[in-house]
Amino acid sequence: MGFIKQETVMERAGCVIFLLFYHTCSGLEVTVPSSHIALFQTRTLLPCTFTVDNPSVNPQFLAIFWHFGNIELLRYDNKEKVSSPRVSMDEQELKRGNASLSIHSVTISDQGTYKCLVIYSPNRQHKDIQLNIQAVPALKIHKKVLRKDEKNLVHCSITDFFPKDITVRWLRNGQDLGSASEKFQMNADGTYNVNSSVTISPIEATDNPVITCQVEHESLLDPLQDAFRVEYGAAPSVQVTSSKTPDGEEQIYMCEARGYFPETVEINWLLDGKRTDPPRGSDKSLFNKEIYYRILLDKDKRPKQISCEVQHETLYSPITETLEVQENNDCKRSCHFGLTAVLLVLLILACGILAAAWYFITKKKYFQKFQVSQIHREPIKSDDEKVTLYCVASNCTMNVVVTWTVKVGENVTILEAQTNKDEESAALLCSDYTVRTDLEQSDNLYNVITALRFKPDINKNKDREVMCNFLCDGRNKERRFTYKLTLKKPEMSAPIKLSLSDSGDVLCSVTLETFYPRNIQIKWSCGVGHYKELDTAKNNIIHNSDQTCNAVSECRVPGHLFKDPGFRVRVTWSHQSMDETEHREVSAADFPCPSVMDEIIIPPLLLHGTEAKLQCRISGYFPGDLDVKWIRREAGKQELYEVSPSDKYKIPVMEVTQQSDKTYTCTASLIVSVSVLTDHGAEFICRVTHPTLVTPLKKRTGELSVTGIPTVNVTHLNNHPRAEILHFFPKDITVMWSRSKSNKYETYEGKKVENEFQKNDDDDDGTYICISDLSVKTHKNKSYKVTVEHETLKRPIEKIIVREKDKLYLKDNENRTTLLPETLHQKEISNSNVGKQVSTEDDLEPNRTVDDSPTSLDNKDGGNTWKKFKKSLKLK
Ligand SMILES: *[C@@H]1O[C@H](CO)[C@@H](O)[C@H](O)[C@H]1NC(C)=O
Ligand SMILES: *[C@@H]1O[C@H](CO)[C@@H](O)[C@H](O)[C@H]1NC(C)=O
Ligand SMILES: *[C@@H]1O[C@H](CO)[C@@H](O)[C@H](O)[C@H]1NC(C)=O
Ligand SMILES: *[C@@H]1O[C@H](CO)[C@@H](O)[C@H](O)[C@H]1NC(C)=O
Ligand SMILES: *[C@@H]1O[C@H](CO)[C@@H](O)[C@H](O)[C@H]1NC(C)=O
Ligand SMILES: *[C@@H]1O[C@H](CO)[C@@H](O)[C@H](O)[C@H]1NC(C)=O
Ligand SMILES: *[C@@H]1O[C@H](CO)[C@@H](O)[C@H](O)[C@H]1NC(C)=O
Repeated sequence: MGFIKQETVMERAGCVIFLLFYHTCSGLEVTVPSSHIALFQTRTLLPCTFTVDNPSVNPQFLAIFWHFGNIELLRYDNKEKVSSPRVSMDEQELKRGNASLSIHSVTISDQGTYKCLVIYSPNRQHKDIQLNIQAVPALKIHKKVLRKDEKNLVHCSITDFFPKDITVRWLRNGQDLGSASEKFQMNADGTYNVNSSVTISPIEATDNPVITCQVEHESLLDPLQDAFRVEYGAAPSVQVTSSKTPDGEEQIYMCEARGYFPETVEINWLLDGKRTDPPRGSDKSLFNKEIYYRILLDKDKRPKQISCEVQHETLYSPITETLEVQENNDCKRSCHFGLTAVLLVLLILACGILAAAWYFITKKKYFQKFQVSQIHREPIKSDDEKVTLYCVASNCTMNVVVTWTVKVGENVTILEAQTNKDEESAALLCSDYTVRTDLEQSDNLYNVITALRFKPDINKNKDREVMCNFLCDGRNKERRFTYKLTLKKPEMSAPIKLSLSDSGDVLCSVTLETFYPRNIQIKWSCGVGHYKELDTAKNNIIHNSDQTCNAVSECRVPGHLFKDPGFRVRVTWSHQSMDETEHREVSAADFPCPSVMDEIIIPPLLLHGTEAKLQCRISGYFPGDLDVKWIRREAGKQELYEVSPSDKYKIPVMEVTQQSDKTYTCTASLIVSVSVLTDHGAEFICRVTHPTLVTPLKKRTGELSVTGIPTVNVTHLNNHPRAEILHFFPKDITVMWSRSKSNKYETYEGKKVENEFQKNDDDDDGTYICISDLSVKTHKNKSYKVTVEHETLKRPIEKIIVREKDKLYLKDNENRTTLLPETLHQKEISNSNVGKQVSTEDDLEPNRTVDDSPTSLDNKDGGNTWKKFKKSLKLK
């Protein structure tokens, strides 16, 4: 014992020493929880934290790896970060020792062991973490109404849960109901479904207990449940019968659901297994619902099978009754009795009577099989305004008497039709009404279909009380129907619609809605002032489900007629419901295509002495007849003048194109020879007139801003350089002279530079002229530069003049020199120093600022010399 104890103590001591050593050496400790739970399809964070010796983590030594089984999910080191798309790690958090992995939307397959590996060079440590996924179940009891005195199977479906382990319990008033059957199913996403059902016996269902379906699952804190209090219902009984219509063209099917509770029931027809929607002609009385269906006995359109599907709360799956659709021939055979058939029938009949007598004595229930449908109204046929009402009796014995009674106010009409097997159909004619009754044999009994046809008297406009009575072996059954006739006025919900056709015609269309009866007169006419009927009108009548009609009327009108703004298209209609005819009109102004006019396109710079093109674009108009006028307003004035082609203006032919929507687009242009004098501050207006426009469309350029680019010519006057700056606008300009000094240019200031400004009166074009003289006296070889800056210039104009052997030369861009010409013009300015003042380079004081504003120097002579000078400029 002592030995063992000693050893243990030794081990412990070693362990402690080792741990101390390990800790101080490595300094890296990774911490993760042993397992982690995540909810299916949510984002989850797998925690992993680490500590290192020194207080702050140096990223240079750090690398993080996350693995799922053998798969590397994420790698991070000082060079790069690689991760699979669904996971991420916050790099900012790493500095704080947090290497937790975020998984974006967990799936069932993400369940498993993850490894968090941290390397803090030279140390490394990893920890495993188990991720478990949970998906929360959904639960629903399907049938909540039970059938009394029967065993009922109640189903509960539990869906989309994980893991598979689940406990389903059924409770009756909180007490266990015993075992339930379960069947599991796995979904594509790895979650499970289970259906659980329990049989509830009539004893268990007494006193309306509460039935609960309850599940316990590890994803749930509390059990999940769905419950209902037992209510009794009755399942419907379903019957399908068929009969031919009196005219023999159609087959009528009746489906009746009876004796059910609660009230909600859904009945649908299936033709060869496909649902028809919506079910037509439903009549409903409490707990008894019936629908009917008509099919044409046309070979192509008939289905092979017709089924009636009834869904009700008491049913787990719907009741479906199916009938094979009879062939035409079969029908005829069954309709037209041969002699043998008659005999056979007589025989059967005898048996039938015997059986009936027996039933009558024993069970009167037999006669309850005699069924009469509701009265149905057949939808109005397109070519006829008569109304047909149907009523069908099934399982009648022979000698059925059908009586129709129609009450209009005080007047009562009674129509009786006696049928028996020999007269298989009976037609009854009366002044206003027609009755047809047909017999169809099925087993020993007959199905009788009877139809009442009449033309509603629109003028009297009265309701009719209609009754149909079947007398079958002493028993009466009656159905009632109120036929309401109300005239309905055509309504026009939208104005006349205009659209453009490929041929260039305009298609006018109008829809008149919900009128009754069907007869309506719609006419189209057109003209200017006086209307002529159009023969291109087409009317189409559509029958609505509520017996009313809609009419769509269309008419084509040649598009060019609309060029006349006075041209009108008129639609006129009349109907029994209206005292007077009504009409509507359209003209070009109603065209749906609005003309769109863009802003006038003006060149970015309007340069004096050049041509400028103004453009005006109009689109979306129809018809293609458009008038564009250019109008001019002088600077500072109000009056407007229409521009006509001249030397100054060119008006090119408009460019017109037709778009795919048949509308037109055009561009009108005006080419102007721009001059400062006439165009600066003036404005152009583009005005568009079109038949569809009440007022012309206008766009304005706004006040134009014209500029003149200066040209510079250098000459000399008495061996002094001169710059002539011509045709610029606006007046603001900077002329600067400088001379070279040790490879740099130094600017001249003050008196050595003399600028003379004047309006270019001779050209009368509004531009300016400036003559700039530099007065220096020197004989040294020298280089001068004149620099002209103006708002129209991107870069200043520079001219370099060189003095060599006391001669002045102009230096071009290639350093070639040409002798500077002498100026042709003398500028005689009284107190000018030009040509007189003697200055030397040494006088130059570059930083002196004496009146160096170019504009401040005005022409001081009488102006005559100026005129001469400018004339000579123009001559050149
Ligand atoms: C670790 O970082 C994550 C973000 O990646 C954050 O949500 C989490 O709260 C952090 N954990 C700790 C313990 O700071
Ligand atoms: C549960 O019942 C529904 C409805 O009848 C069915 O569609 C589903 O396939 C059933 N599920 C299982 C797991 O049997
Ligand atoms: C007509 O009688 C037959 C048999 O006698 C029965 O199966 C059928 O349901 C009855 N039809 C109607 C509409 O009552
Ligand atoms: C009843 O019938 C008579 C004679 O056919 C007819 O003059 C009268 O207008 C009818 N009354 C009604 C309310 O239809
Ligand atoms: C001026 O230049 C010319 C030619 O380059 C040269 O012949 C002449 O000597 C120069 N004169 C002076 C004063 O430098
Ligand atoms: C002109 O001369 C100057 C200096 O003398 C030189 O820098 C420049 O390159 C020359 N230009 C051309 C086009 O020869
Ligand atoms: C510059 O002016 C001179 C003299 O006035 C004239 O001969 C010459 O043609 C002009 N050159 C230009 C480019 O205008």
